[in-house]
Amino acid sequence: MRFLLALFLLLASLQANLSQDIEHGSLLVDGAQTKAETGDNFICATIDWWPHDKCDYNHCPWGYSSVVNLDLSLPFLSKAIQALKPLRIRLGGSLQDQVLYDVGSLKSPCHPLQKIKGGLFGFSKGCLHMKRWDELNQFFNETGAIVTFGLNALHGKHQISHNVWEGTWDPTNAYDFIKYTISKGYKIDSWELGNELSGKGIGASVGVAQYGKDLIKLKQILGTLYENSKFKPSLVAPGGFYERQWYDKLLQVSGSGIINVLTHHLYNLGPGLTVT
Ligand SMILES: *[C@@H]1O[C@H](CO)[C@@H](O)[C@H](O)[C@H]1NC(C)=O
Repeated sequence: MRFLLALFLLLASLQANLSQDIEHGSLLVDGAQTKAETGDNFICATIDWWPHDKCDYNHCPWGYSSVVNLDLSLPFLSKAIQALKPLRIRLGGSLQDQVLYDVGSLKSPCHPLQKIKGGLFGFSKGCLHMKRWDELNQFFNETGAIVTFGLNALHGKHQISHNVWEGTWDPTNAYDFIKYTISKGYKIDSWELGNELSGKGIGASVGVAQYGKDLIKLKQILGTLYENSKFKPSLVAPGGFYERQWYDKLLQVSGSGIINVLTHHLYNLGPGLTVT
């Protein structure tokens, strides 16, 4: 019904816009039949990873709004999230596939995301410290946000050409991170693997056959780690641009019962860059 209403409003606005050349018609809205249903928690916002010095065309629009530097004590922010309840907050974005979690057996140094020449999207690998993760979860708990976390899907893979990455996903760091999250009792509604790696990708892309296997691995990990938990999180994938062959193949490779929520990204309002 919502869909039909939206269609009606769209047509009505089209008619208003084209009012020079008008032809009258009538539109019958059949409100008795449901075409699609939208869940109650469809309002969503993303907290991204971009540092304050991420700039495009001399504009640096992100300020201090990232997962690691957003001021969680702002009353306006908490009130806004509570007012939109249930608001889903997705933590993710381009740089998520370069973020390591400072927990468990992580051997690599865990430094902040920094601008480097030749880095993916112009940045180095970055780090999420568990102290910050604790603060974020307290914040989500207090504001009642529903959390979707985008995991680093490129960990363990290597770049073989300009934007193609190959190799098996190394799940060790994600495993330790999810284990820590569960041990603290933090409720993550869903885990997503990778950001915009499907099809041709944006900064990086992965082959669908390997990505499907990586998802099966993540599903096994979630099964093991949440085995004794009443709550079972969803697995969300691939969070990228829709290319039919890639998506079709993904479902063939993963098989049924692996992906709970299939996602794709649209930029109908443009990329948000200001070109001056
Ligand atoms: C916040 O955490 C407490 C303690 O773990 C829990 O009982 C409560 O359900 C949580 N609230 C939300 C909204 O997740």
